[in-house]
Amino acid sequence: MKIGFLHSLIRKDEKLLIDEFNSRKDIELVMIDDRNISFNLGKDKFNLDVIIERCINHSRALHAMKLYESAGVKCVNSFHVASICGDKLLTSSALADNKVPQPEVRVAFTEESAIKTIEEMGYPVVLKPAVGSWGRLLSKINDRDAAESILEHKTVLGSYHHSIFYMQKYVEKKGRDIRSFVVGDTCIAAIYRTSPHWITNTARGGVATKCEVTEEIASLSVAASKAVGGGIVAIDLFETADGLQVNEVNYTMEFKNSITTTGVNIPKHVVDYVIKAGRGEA
Ligand SMILES: Nc1ncnc2c1ncn2[C@@H]1O[C@H](COP(=O)(O)OP(=O)(O)O)[C@@H](O)[C@H]1O
Ligand SMILES: [Mg+2]
Repeated sequence: MKIGFLHSLIRKDEKLLIDEFNSRKDIELVMIDDRNISFNLGKDKFNLDVIIERCINHSRALHAMKLYESAGVKCVNSFHVASICGDKLLTSSALADNKVPQPEVRVAFTEESAIKTIEEMGYPVVLKPAVGSWGRLLSKINDRDAAESILEHKTVLGSYHHSIFYMQKYVEKKGRDIRSFVVGDTCIAAIYRTSPHWITNTARGGVATKCEVTEEIASLSVAASKAVGGGIVAIDLFETADGLQVNEVNYTMEFKNSITTTGVNIPKHVVDYVIKAGRGEA
């Protein structure tokens, strides 16, 4: 089987995946550096059974997958999944369509309608760029003065991505959230991310510890994955008095901090799934 490995820089996560692929029999791994590729639309032919996408840049990943899929190559994750997960608004909309519990989310398109919405929701509110990751450019808004100031800054200084206001009710999560990992139909592992800061991303200093995969974590994580189209995803969950809620779904999942923490060989599960996809079984 010929597997394309679409990548930018090779980080530790990619290294772990490459080692796992190389340990398998009858697999030829074809490295595809997204800095070197170009496409010839309608004429491309690629001799690959499947591509695993491991780009760092969302828009490169998204557009490359669209063009590989148009040329008939299966991608993991699919263009569809990447387009939903890469955008928090589309993710929340997919979760709502599928009745997957999530914090209250509101969307508005102007400063005036956004401030009105925030006042209706009540403070604190979290304002997020629809496209973004690693905890960047999130604003926790505690009062009207902050709301006015942030909305004005976004309107005057923000790029196109900041012209849609995605507002989420702040969830009191007692210093931690849960990151679960779903491969196909199975929630394979989960960690707690604990931080004194309200933003718990490990990229921002959150500390990872093992979290037992309960029935509730497993079923909600798989439901969230299905809602965005399935595949290999990592899900942020909040523990609330009303049960778990899904904050977001990530599609080029990072897992390097979670292997020893959970004792689960995450790259093995990922590689098994990609090989199954290459055989047309996933
Ligand atoms: N509504 C919220 N209530 C409480 N904490 C939040 C909320 N939204 C985000 N956070 C915190 O910020 C982190 C990053 O937010 P997230 O929506 O996952 O964006 P990113 O794509 O940057 O990871 C979350 O893991 C969580 O710790
Ligand atoms: Mg997140």
